[in-house]
Amino acid sequence: MRLVAAGALALAISCVAAQPARAQSQLTVYCSVLADWCQLMAVEFEKRTGIRTNISQKGSGETLAQLRAEAANPRGDVWWGGTGDPHLQAAELGLTEAYRSPSLEALLPWARRQAEQSRYRTVGIYAGALGIAFNSELLARKRLPEPRCWKDLLDPALRDEVQMSNPASSGTAYTAVATFVQLFSEEGGFDYLGRLHRNVSQYTRSGPAPARNTARGETMFGIMFLHDAVAEAIEGFPVKVVSPCEGTGYEIGSMSIVKGARNMEAAKRWYEFALTPEAQGLAARAKSYQTPSHPGAVVPPQAPRLADMKLIDYDFAKYGSSAERRRLIERWEKDVGSRAK
Ligand code: G6P
Repeated sequence: MRLVAAGALALAISCVAAQPARAQSQLTVYCSVLADWCQLMAVEFEKRTGIRTNISQKGSGETLAQLRAEAANPRGDVWWGGTGDPHLQAAELGLTEAYRSPSLEALLPWARRQAEQSRYRTVGIYAGALGIAFNSELLARKRLPEPRCWKDLLDPALRDEVQMSNPASSGTAYTAVATFVQLFSEEGGFDYLGRLHRNVSQYTRSGPAPARNTARGETMFGIMFLHDAVAEAIEGFPVKVVSPCEGTGYEIGSMSIVKGARNMEAAKRWYEFALTPEAQGLAARAKSYQTPSHPGAVVPPQAPRLADMKLIDYDFAKYGSSAERRRLIERWEKDVGSRAK
């Protein structure tokens, strides 16, 4: 587990308190967004509060598994970021604390709905749509057409040219499985995933990895949240994004307070900070281009425009339930992940 006190490990993100005299408490944040954003949030939070902040960064599915394992003796205080479905499962399993923030009313309706649905055990902090990214140089070199639809990724000519993440560890991939089931029906969705499997070279542990790998030419196509691929394009990599013609699913990136958190007051301060337009505006500074949940936060001009996409009416109640997640992941492992190609 990547949990350390400030400054101890390269993989962990640590911050030196800007005002040590005021540092009366500490906070452990389980962070499920990109490391740069975790780090910037921690630095800015410490600056304002003097609360020493340890960050442990892991994918959404992995963090849910960790919360379950630590339920009797919680080590994290707040879980910030990551796809909303596992946050809803944590709520249902009683792993997170009910907290009704006074800032709730100021948030966009989808963020408030996430709170209402979980009886105030989680809340939406950002949204992002799923899609396809491709490496435009590799595609041109192989003289292949640009994809427009999910079905285009099934072309037998694309064997071993696609990457997506693993739904057991990654909330992104679970969103993808739930999206295909909602778009094509359960049998149609698994038929799609089974055929896609022939073209998948690797199921990565983390959701944003296929974006990075597509950008660097390690794979021609990736399935991921579009903002993760946009971030690579802005860095100058030859990567283009596609919002698929059949329609697509999306995440409500969420935040929850861990049940029995040792640093409950500090956790609530982080929670309130994270809902301010100012804190949400830090995302773009860290090159994360989701759509913020506070309407007062500046939406980065680079953020993929959700209003222009064919988004499905994602059933967060159903696909956020722990029985459904377990069932779909088990089915994916049995019918897809463990299968020879
Ligand atoms: C990236 C994205 C986030 C998403 C997260 C999920 O950080 O930018 O929008 O919530 O991945 O990560 P996971 O590894 O659980 O798929």
